Amino acid sequence: MLSRFFASRNLHCDDGVVYIPQFLDKPQEYLSWKDVETCLTRDDLYWELINGNGEKRSLPEYKPYWSPVPCQDKNTIYNHITSGESFVITGYSKIKRKTQDLCIEIERSLDVCTDVHVYGARTKSPSFKTHCDHFSNFIIQCVGETPWKVYKNKQTSLLACKNDKPLNYDIMEIDWEGILKPGDLLYIPDRAYHCALPDKTRLSMSIPCVPTVLNPEFYDRRNYKIQTDN
Ligand SMILES: [Fe+2]
Repeated sequence: MLSRFFASRNLHCDDGVVYIPQFLDKPQEYLSWKDVETCLTRDDLYWELINGNGEKRSLPEYKPYWSPVPCQDKNTIYNHITSGESFVITGYSKIKRKTQDLCIEIERSLDVCTDVHVYGARTKSPSFKTHCDHFSNFIIQCVGETPWKVYKNKQTSLLACKNDKPLNYDIMEIDWEGILKPGDLLYIPDRAYHCALPDKTRLSMSIPCVPTVLNPEFYDRRNYKIQTDN
């Protein structure tokens, strides 16, 4: 599955953006609005809600008496989604076999541990401002289309990616700019500045890649089956 990715750039000595149109066949089998609805019924995922100004909104948590873990307030999440604002779901890789297999493929082909984070909104709604992240990332569009910008500029690994300083756009240089369509893949190198500029309904998978030199512990993604006669 990753052969087109490896063929498109010499990552050993020339790290940079990779864009692969139509990387996934039938992307909605990986992520659809029905899957988002399923996520709302589970308590083993973690939601982040993004305000109209591109900042995180606080999300109440409570601990039901019989729950082993605290739960996020589903009504707040539901109202946020239906009002059309942007959200993030972390821990999505374990939701279905397709996303588990995608992560297995990435983890076997590269020296990284992965997960899938869902980014979405029902209508035009801003995502995070231009920022950088600690790890390399694959973006795969599943529903709708989203414009993206990735810059050649990167933050040093000597500093944490707090994204609290204003950027000097006089020295910012675009590495890739375009519109991701369903099935398209975008690879964003570690610490490269980037931003999504969503202008309509969308769902995408973001796949952050933590180097195994930092932590070699993978999710157990094996498909355990119990033999039974009934
Ligand atoms: Fe990011």
